[in-house]
Amino acid sequence: MCGIVGVTGNKDAVNILVNGLKKLEYRGYDSAGLYVNDEGKKDYLVKRTGAISNLKSAVDDMDISGSAGIAHTRWATHGGVTVENAHPHYSQDKRFYLVHNGVIENYRELKEKYLSDVEFTSQTDTEVVVQLVDYFATKEGLNAKDAFKKALSKLKGSSYAFQLMDREEPDTIYVAKNKSPLLIGLGEDCNVVCSDSLAMLNITHDFLELDDGDFVTVKPDSVEIEDKDGNAVNDRKPFHVDIDASDADKGTYPYYMLKEIDEQPNVMRKLSSKYLNSDGKPVVDNDLLDAIKQSDRLYIVAAGTSYHAGLVGKNLFEKLAQVPTEVHVASEFAYNMPLLADKPFFIFLSQSGETADSREVLVNINRLGYKSLTITNVENSTLSRESNYTLLLHAGPEISVASTKAYTAQITVEAILAKALGESDNVEAAQNFNLKQQLGLVATGMQAIVDEKETINELSKKYFVNANRSFYIGRGIDYFVSLESSLKLKEISYILAEGFASGELKHGTIALIEKGTPVIGIITQSNTAGLTRSNLEETMARGAKTITITTESLAKDNDDIVIPDVDELLTPLLSVIPAQLLAYYTSLNKGLDVDHPRNLAKSVTVQ
Ligand code: F6R
Repeated sequence: MCGIVGVTGNKDAVNILVNGLKKLEYRGYDSAGLYVNDEGKKDYLVKRTGAISNLKSAVDDMDISGSAGIAHTRWATHGGVTVENAHPHYSQDKRFYLVHNGVIENYRELKEKYLSDVEFTSQTDTEVVVQLVDYFATKEGLNAKDAFKKALSKLKGSSYAFQLMDREEPDTIYVAKNKSPLLIGLGEDCNVVCSDSLAMLNITHDFLELDDGDFVTVKPDSVEIEDKDGNAVNDRKPFHVDIDASDADKGTYPYYMLKEIDEQPNVMRKLSSKYLNSDGKPVVDNDLLDAIKQSDRLYIVAAGTSYHAGLVGKNLFEKLAQVPTEVHVASEFAYNMPLLADKPFFIFLSQSGETADSREVLVNINRLGYKSLTITNVENSTLSRESNYTLLLHAGPEISVASTKAYTAQITVEAILAKALGESDNVEAAQNFNLKQQLGLVATGMQAIVDEKETINELSKKYFVNANRSFYIGRGIDYFVSLESSLKLKEISYILAEGFASGELKHGTIALIEKGTPVIGIITQSNTAGLTRSNLEETMARGAKTITITTESLAKDNDDIVIPDVDELLTPLLSVIPAQLLAYYTSLNKGLDVDHPRNLAKSVTVQ
């Protein structure tokens, strides 16, 4: 949700910034801008609405250069999508330039109290901060650093990752972080700043993580960190990011989403080799297992697609480990915490590890002294650092806004953990569950489905491109996959799609079925297959065009999409793939930008 990059000490600053923004485009793509200073000789501010390519064309036409600069790609929070509202924002005397990811909650009060004389150029909360820096520099004669710190001290209840530049110190970037993610990258003869290491892998693989309240002075040859109390931090160790810059490229694929769908068989194999030994026994930290075993209830907390993966996880933990499990939407849990069990253990599911809603819960439960595990794709992410344990998804960078491989990887890691817990408690279901063999079948099954993607493209063209509403229905874990499948379809094709418990339809929602409304039934569970089929018939009798996704052993002659058989606990790993492809092709066939759906951003770092 907004991406920021900065560099100092490299004459190629403009290209580094634009390329870095391109890698962060998934965080927001309403508008983008940069400020570059050419060693104090000249400086440039360029902002454009729309994709990063618009900024790049503008920059190419202008022939600008510099060795230090800051840049931003925006997902609008305060103020519409205009050039004026794009970052960087600047003080009225054009001395200070600022980019920001986050939300300043008390910006109106600050504006009234200190800045009633200032003529603002934007409607953003961010501009208040840069004008405030200028106010303290001018009115109180403070240098940039002190003026910035003073401005920060006035921000209440806010989240931010800021970079500030002062024309009078052309090689220095001042950085401040609270709640929003930010890293400092250590390059050769230069240093960089970024919301996500992916943006700067062409410059460095070594990064320093920042804590809330840190203030950093970044120069070409030094990085000075001060903690929230103003003490110098000298022992922060860099971490190494072991991702190849090319892992974050599309290669020959038209869209990241298709690449990421196709990568899922390999992710399954990778997880199997990382977490299961040659005998198929889970390799999971004993401390983590002990911590969970001391609890009497699991609370899975997540948002969006990760929440849907949590719903599938509940089934795994309850069946394989016999641990009662609740699944909660993070944004609800944070402000309406249910009555907890005596000894709760929390599991945070988050692809990015940065979701602000989930983090709010983590901060609260840390305060209450409860233990937690984060299952995430991003090592050293905020949720990973702030919970007691981490299990990584090993899915490789997920760039497309619509999450695909992270969902299946999350379910797989939950299955591994559930088996490990169950085995350590001698639960028969876990002991008899041959997960290694099953993951092999899942990988082969996924491959078979993605190899037949053209049939799904045909279904998309025939029934979905012109639809304005649609339904996915199922029972039990098929219902949970229906929720995820409908989210995928609506977020990238803009077709209203609801996931429904199939038995619930006739209690009201069936009124929405009209002639031709596509209704997809997910049928992978033997105990409910007949019931879901009857519910599909009910919609068909009212004019719906029904489509079935079912398994080989439950298939009937006229079923539409038949997926290979795997253990019924793991069918979500396969039944979701046709739904991902259907969403992809429907978006594509409607001529939409699959990877950048309107109004969205990946990594939602505001609440
Ligand atoms: C949808 C999607 C989102 C995310 C949600 C949580 O395709 O990607 O619903 O799942 O924003 O994000 P993470 O998993 O990063 O916490």
